[in-house]
Amino acid sequence: MARSSAEHNTLVQQEFTKQATAYATNPTIVDVEWALRLVQAAQPSPENRVLEVATGPGHVALAFATVAREVVGVDLTEAPLAIARKNQAQRGLTNVSFEAADAKHLPFEDATFDIAVCRLAFHHFDTPEQVFSEMVRVCRPGGKVAVEDLVASEHRDRANYYDQWERLRDPSHTAALSLSQLVGLYREAGLEVENLRWEQRPQDVERWLQTTQTPPGTAQQVRQLIQDDADQRISGTPIYRDEEGRLCFMHRMATVVGC
Ligand SMILES: C[S@@+](CC[C@H](N)C(=O)[O-])C[C@H]1O[C@@H](n2cnc3c(N)ncnc32)[C@H](O)[C@@H]1O
Repeated sequence: MARSSAEHNTLVQQEFTKQATAYATNPTIVDVEWALRLVQAAQPSPENRVLEVATGPGHVALAFATVAREVVGVDLTEAPLAIARKNQAQRGLTNVSFEAADAKHLPFEDATFDIAVCRLAFHHFDTPEQVFSEMVRVCRPGGKVAVEDLVASEHRDRANYYDQWERLRDPSHTAALSLSQLVGLYREAGLEVENLRWEQRPQDVERWLQTTQTPPGTAQQVRQLIQDDADQRISGTPIYRDEEGRLCFMHRMATVVGC
């Protein structure tokens, strides 16, 4: 039976309360250069007011704050927000604020931001179209909407298999959009895509399972699904062993900016 929206929000909060510290300190996530590439893609000007939706520990919001006039980061979960505020204090940035909010119902007036950005969260939303239209709503006409996220295969059966092992590892994963579904959000909203980037980011399966603290029995099932995926080329995900024999895969990732 499908979960209600409130039940899904509770699941997200449970997961990201549990993962908060491991996620915020994961070297992949902490990578400042990565966050700055998203800033470069969105090209904020020094006068801009920026909203980061699902900010988590705030790495992207803090990167935008080095350029923009003001940044607001919102998230459903208090634990990562507390880390974001600590990170902000450590960096001495006074033009950022963090607050609790559901991306599906943003607590802001229409047209109050120049840029709305969201990284690594669309695959946690139960209604991504609703979040996207909220991002568009709070942006002024001509403002930019930037989304960076994992993307799944264009083939539904392959994407379903990929989502299966992602969801087993972290039950708050709903579904990764394909690149065409992500671009479709811009089309449906009447926006023009002005920047699009595709990259593959390596993941060490054991480190990735540690971040979510997936229980041992479930983690073993995830390893098996990924190994089967590698052997039978099921989901289209590039899967390989590194020089030390560790099981790794490539997270396929897209960044889309439109206005
Ligand atoms: C994988 S983290 C990404 C954090 C950050 N954007 C980054 O790039 O590091 C996903 C975040 O989405 C948040 N989230 C999920 N659903 C949400 C919703 N409906 N509204 C606001 N935040 C949400 C979670 O609480 C979590 O902090």
